[in-house]
Amino acid sequence: MHQLQQSVDATPSEEPAKRLGRAIVVTSGKGGVGKTTTTANLGTALAARGARVVLVDADVGLRNLDIVLGLESRVKYHVLDVLEEKVSIDDALVADKRVETLSLLAAAQTREKDEVDTEKMRALIQMLRERFDYVLIDCPAGIEQGFQNAVVGAEEAIVVCTPEVSAVRDVDRVVGLLGNRFKPQLIINRLRPQLVKKGKMLSVEDVNGILHLPLLGVIADEPEIIVTTNKGEPLALRRDGATASAYHAIAARVAGEDVPAPTVEVKETSFLDKLGAFFGGRKS
Ligand SMILES: Nc1ncnc2c1ncn2[C@@H]1O[C@H](COP(=O)(O)OP(=O)(O)OP(=O)(O)O)[C@@H](O)[C@H]1O
Ligand SMILES: [Mg+2]
Repeated sequence: MHQLQQSVDATPSEEPAKRLGRAIVVTSGKGGVGKTTTTANLGTALAARGARVVLVDADVGLRNLDIVLGLESRVKYHVLDVLEEKVSIDDALVADKRVETLSLLAAAQTREKDEVDTEKMRALIQMLRERFDYVLIDCPAGIEQGFQNAVVGAEEAIVVCTPEVSAVRDVDRVVGLLGNRFKPQLIINRLRPQLVKKGKMLSVEDVNGILHLPLLGVIADEPEIIVTTNKGEPLALRRDGATASAYHAIAARVAGEDVPAPTVEVKETSFLDKLGAFFGGRKS
């Protein structure tokens, strides 16, 4: 019998208890708020600490995580190949060459979310928990079948929210659907401190005044993220810079370290920046 089917059929008493890794779903409800970016960077930062990390792309039909990680050319098989028992987990895992404890299980690109057998997905995540310290699951947008498949094997949730009323409302809905069992924690993404200062964007307090969730971290709206995403080099491969540091601080918090409260610096526009703007935006 195939490994995965055995695991679906197994009753807990049949196997000796193993120390399982943590399965954490990264979700949001709303699309495009930064779930995949967060999964890639948090996974990279956790692996850089020496933890064994697998990133599971549960966005079947719209896979992206492989590109953000720069691993797309090495993906041969995907999560549905494993669920349908065409290949083993080992065949489908892609090991990152830059951070040796980081692996990816890619999503199928030409299949539909409702082709996923939810019970087999649960069994797959369970098997990954036996081999990795962290199983981070990149959830698709929405709250339909794709969401159900992504959360079924998870025990914890990280919700990503941008400082927009619509994103906050969707996170609120998702947290309600998840319930307390998932101990949801919040990452606020794409904050622009200058806009908050001018009262043109929701602040961390505004967002969490509604959500009331444990705050894991705040990530600024960071042009470098778009550059690094296009290069397939997650920002968290680096240690320098405020945003890379913010991802490493989030990883430390996830790992249970007592790290100081998250903040985002408000960069004052310097005289040279103003001069640059005066000369058509050219930076000196
Ligand atoms: N902190 C950030 N600063 C700037 N750009 C960001 C930031 N986070 C994410 N982005 C950009 O926003 C876009 C959407 O991000 P991403 O794909 O991670 O969102 P998503 O929630 O996974 O989307 P989907 O719901 O479609 O899966 C990408 O172009 C990404 O580079
Ligand atoms: Mg995504």
